[in-house]
Amino acid sequence: MKAIILLMIPLTVFGHGNIKHSEKKESHQTPVKVDDSFVAIYKNINAEYKIKVEAIFKGKCFDCHSGQTVYPWYYKIPGVNLLIDSDIKEARSHLDMSDGFPFKGHGTPLQDLGELEKTVKSNSMPPLYYKLFHDKSSLTEIEKETILNWVRKSKVRLEEGQ
Ligand code: HEC
Repeated sequence: MKAIILLMIPLTVFGHGNIKHSEKKESHQTPVKVDDSFVAIYKNINAEYKIKVEAIFKGKCFDCHSGQTVYPWYYKIPGVNLLIDSDIKEARSHLDMSDGFPFKGHGTPLQDLGELEKTVKSNSMPPLYYKLFHDKSSLTEIEKETILNWVRKSKVRLEEGQ
């Protein structure tokens, strides 16, 4: 068992290092999030999110991207808990799904949708080590299609302002 855990640690650290953060440089200085004139559009996008997408994210993403983590058994292992805590902290600073759309985090709503589209298309979330521990946590093709349809529709709504 120890050997398995030791093998997992590098995966935890490097397992999701392949995602590019285009906004990283200036993102943390960007205080903007919600533009008032878009409130009605956000509401519509969120309504559809709640119906179609949130359940998928709750099952497969909320452990890291929300305040509703269900801690795994291996959280009890000294050292591993620190890695998990820092992962959750980082995941939430990028994208916090706790309160629906618009998500909290460092990006604008449109940027968040773009990041989601990229990660879903490239199968890079959940991170590899999480998938190894959580059977069936990969997104299925149907789930990916559902998320991407919502993302595309929402991007158009935001870009066209309606
Ligand atoms: C085990 C924890 C974990 C789980 C589960 C997880 N993520 Fe992540 N996610 C992270 C971490 C850590 C980052 C930030 C570092 C990185 O990008 O690798 C991140 C970053 C992201 C980003 C990039 C955000 C940005 O603006 O840079 C997106 C999008 C994302 N995750 C979507 C998802 C989706 C969708 C799911 C569920 C299908 C999911 N994640 C599940 C840990 C997780």
